[in-house]
Amino acid sequence: MTRHFLEVDDLSASELAEVLAASRADNGRLLAGLGVAVVMTLPSTRTRNSTEMAVTDLGGHAVALAGGEVGIDARETAEDVARTLAQYHRAICVRVTDHEVLVRMAKAIDDAGLDVPVVNLLSSMGHPVQALADLLTIADLCPGRVEGLRGARIAWIGDSNNVARSLSLGAVALGMHVTVSSPERYRFGAADLERVASHAQRAGLGGALVQADEPAAAVAGALAVCTDVWASMGQEHERDARMAAFSGFRVDTALLELASPDAVLLHCLPAHRGEEVTAEILDGPRSRVWQQTAHRRTAMRGLLAWLVSRAP
Ligand code: CP
Ligand code: NVA
Repeated sequence: MTRHFLEVDDLSASELAEVLAASRADNGRLLAGLGVAVVMTLPSTRTRNSTEMAVTDLGGHAVALAGGEVGIDARETAEDVARTLAQYHRAICVRVTDHEVLVRMAKAIDDAGLDVPVVNLLSSMGHPVQALADLLTIADLCPGRVEGLRGARIAWIGDSNNVARSLSLGAVALGMHVTVSSPERYRFGAADLERVASHAQRAGLGGALVQADEPAAAVAGALAVCTDVWASMGQEHERDARMAAFSGFRVDTALLELASPDAVLLHCLPAHRGEEVTAEILDGPRSRVWQQTAHRRTAMRGLLAWLVSRAP
C-alpha cells in the first residue's frame, strides 16, 4: 500500500527517525527520470522552493502548478486531479486549505491501485513537512542529534495551529516534552490532545504535550521556543480579534530569558515582527530561523527519498 504523508503521525516513531536520517544521507539520484507535482493553491515561498530543489537534488523534475490552473474541485474533482497527476509523477505534493481534499486525493490514488504518495505541503490542519525541518533544526542543538532529542523540552507560544500540531506530533514521537501556551480560545482541543497523547504512547519514548496558561511557565527549561503568525492563511478576516487575544503571547527578550540559557527561537516564517515575535529576537543571535528555512530542503529530500524507495 502506498504511504502518503498527510500528517506526521502517518509515520511511526521509528519511521520518522528513518526519514530524518534519510534527510542527512546521500540518496543519490533516486528520482532520475521521474517527476514530482507541486500544487500550490495558497501562497508559498519556502515550501515551493525547498520542494522543487529537493526534487532536483534527487535527480528528478518538479512541475509546479498554481491552484488556479489546476482548479481542484472547480475545473475537475480532487480525485481526477490526483489520478491525472499520478500518470506523470512519482509523488504529488499539495498545499490546500481544506485537509479533506488531501485525504480524498490519497484515497483516489489508493483506490486506483497507484503507487504515488500524496504529500501535504500545508493544510489548515497540519504542516508536516515543516515539522521535519523543525526537528532537524532542534536536533542540530543536541550532541546525539535525533536520538539526543529524547527528554528535551520545547515550548510553543501563540496559536495552536497547523504548524504547532505537526511539530507536537513529531516532537512527542521522538520523546520530547512540548509545552504549549495559547490564549484560551486558541488552544488545542480534546481531540488534538488525545491524538498527540496516543502518538506519544505508541512511540513509547516518554514524550508528552502539556498546555500552560502563561507563556512564562511554558518556556521554563525549553531549549527551543517556537512560534508562528497569529492569523494563518485564510484567517486574515479574524486579524483584529486575534491581535487582541494574542497580545500577551509575543516572544520577546524577557520571555526568552526565562527559557534555557542557550534557548533558541524557531519560526517557520513568514514572520510578523512586532506581533508574535520581536525583531530583536527574530533577527538576533538566538534565532535559528534561517537554519530552519535551509532544513526545509534537507527534510524534503529525506522525505521524498524515504517515500519513493519503499516497496508499494
Ligand atoms: N514556512 C512555510 O511553509 O513557508 P511558505 O508558506 O513560504 O512556504
Ligand atoms: N500557520 C501559517 C503557516 C505558514 C507557513 C499558515 O497556515 O498560514
